[in-house]
Amino acid sequence: MSLVATPLQRTAVITRLREAGCVFAEEEAQLLLDSVDSPAQLDDAVRHRADGMPLEYVLGWAGFCDLRLQVEAGVFIPRRRTEFLAATAATLTPPGGLVLDLCCGSGAVGRAIAAAVPGITLIATDIDPAAVACANRNLAGVGRALQGDLFAPVPESLLRRIDVVVANAPYVPTDKFSMLPAEARDHEPVHTLDGGPNGTSIQRRIAADAAAWLAPNGHVLIETSRAQAPIITTAFAQSGLTARTAYSADHEATVVIGWQMALMSASSSEEALKDASPRGNDGPRGVTV
Ligand SMILES: C[S@@+](CC[C@H](N)C(=O)[O-])C[C@H]1O[C@@H](n2cnc3c(N)ncnc32)[C@H](O)[C@@H]1O
Repeated sequence: MSLVATPLQRTAVITRLREAGCVFAEEEAQLLLDSVDSPAQLDDAVRHRADGMPLEYVLGWAGFCDLRLQVEAGVFIPRRRTEFLAATAATLTPPGGLVLDLCCGSGAVGRAIAAAVPGITLIATDIDPAAVACANRNLAGVGRALQGDLFAPVPESLLRRIDVVVANAPYVPTDKFSMLPAEARDHEPVHTLDGGPNGTSIQRRIAADAAAWLAPNGHVLIETSRAQAPIITTAFAQSGLTARTAYSADHEATVVIGWQMALMSASSSEEALKDASPRGNDGPRGVTV
């Protein structure tokens, strides 16, 4: 789908987007032109964008880790920041490993891990049926999304078998919600962003329950903020997990990583983190979900 626009049409789109406050008006104009096949569709798309709808909702896709993921109104738009979570999780995912992506939204994180580590078994969960439907489209052929609260939909047969639990759960403190950019505040559902009084309500629940699901050398990774990281580290400690915090200046991202100290030394976990190359593939381990 792509509209071959006259120079006059293109200029009109750019001008309209600029007037609406779009900083990257020229790039966005091109993306919009590439996403429509009639002037009427272009008009609609430009109107939605000028009204403040996030570009990803207008286009119907978002870029993440060199992938193009479907997104739609009502489903959280994956952020570039979260590419650090996905890349870090990929380095800790063994060949043919079992991965659980909690609070999966569009399925972006799990999908990126599957692209980096072929042969994994991937389960994703989200409380929102719209997110689960979207994730199942994005995960076709590589994994499956289930609807429910955090670990609740995961079969009990997977207790102590999961190699990597990964989560970008909502972590905006409730009293900071009004300070979010209007595109997020006005267009993404509150339950995709609001993490409770200090932003860590859902993350602390994940930290409390993850240990029971981890395989002996498994890891749990939670994206958080710098300010919240010590709270998550403490929550891991309370459930018997050792934790370290990883930062990416490039992504402005913070990830707290927990593992079972008795079963895996901190140094071997750190060694694994240093090895950023995707692992090979020993094939699936016969886990059916
Ligand atoms: C910040 S979004 C992240 C989505 C996705 N992980 C990503 O990075 O693009 C948080 C997601 O958590 C989901 N969520 C909120 N509370 C949940 C819960 N109790 N159990 C499962 N999912 C939940 C929301 O529906 C939303 O899709």
